[in-house]
Amino acid sequence: MKKKQSSTPKKAKPFIPAKVKKTEQNAMTIFPIPQRLTVRVSRFNPLMDFSPRTHEYSLAPVLGESVLNLLYRIKHTQDGSLTFRGSCGQGGCGTCGVKVNGKMVLACITNVENAADTHHGLDITPLHDNVLKDLVVDEDVFFAELLKIKPGLVPRNAEKRHHHMGIQDVEKLGKTPQCILCGICNANAESNIKGELGPAALVRAYRHICDIRDGNVSRLEGISPHLLVHYDLDKANICPRDIKPGDKIIELIEMNAQRLKKEKRNEIEKRA
Ligand code: SF4
Ligand code: FES
Repeated sequence: MKKKQSSTPKKAKPFIPAKVKKTEQNAMTIFPIPQRLTVRVSRFNPLMDFSPRTHEYSLAPVLGESVLNLLYRIKHTQDGSLTFRGSCGQGGCGTCGVKVNGKMVLACITNVENAADTHHGLDITPLHDNVLKDLVVDEDVFFAELLKIKPGLVPRNAEKRHHHMGIQDVEKLGKTPQCILCGICNANAESNIKGELGPAALVRAYRHICDIRDGNVSRLEGISPHLLVHYDLDKANICPRDIKPGDKIIELIEMNAQRLKKEKRNEIEKRA
């Protein structure tokens, strides 16, 4: 028997890109409206507290809001004394690093709906234990490490005004010039070992060592093979810019080993 054909054409389904569809679904399941979001923030005032305490806030969730915005909302509507860092709001300045539910992130590019736990809300704590106030950490050690490797470019030929780089020369640097000095790799790899450089300083060193315009040949001297033992390189690889500092540390150690080999060979040749 012939099938009866319907006279009305089938309605075309609206096109929803897979990514958008997924995000909408996630947001709906995490925030079935109406709902309150519980945010627990680590507080520490060196003038009043012996140790950090946790303060709980309750807010109405806003779809698509960043963790940094949420902190501003708490500050402006509930507690003006809450202290945290933030500036550009778009992952460019590296100041807003915090731990959200145990994960180190940049607060300005982390969406609340992706980070929040459906039942427990959000736990926001500082990047590491050296706290100045609330979520603001002391970065003196971090910047002192950076100064040790002389973070500026030392021109190979000071008389030359223009230094041309080919595409291959730029590719050698990888993503290292994009480092925003947020300190997440350092905090994650627990690199505060006295005397050793942290992953962020090593990324900066790598950036200059691989730059054909740089003439500071002593940069590799501070790279010790012990770095491999000191750091959890997988943890050091966690970076909001996907620079993979752990992998860069391995490459630096290999480069230094090659340099030492070459020096030894030259010495033997000189003596012969
Ligand atoms: S390498 Fe990545 S995680 Fe480390 S300081 Fe730079 S941007 Fe931050
Ligand atoms: S505020 Fe600048 S990186 Fe987050």
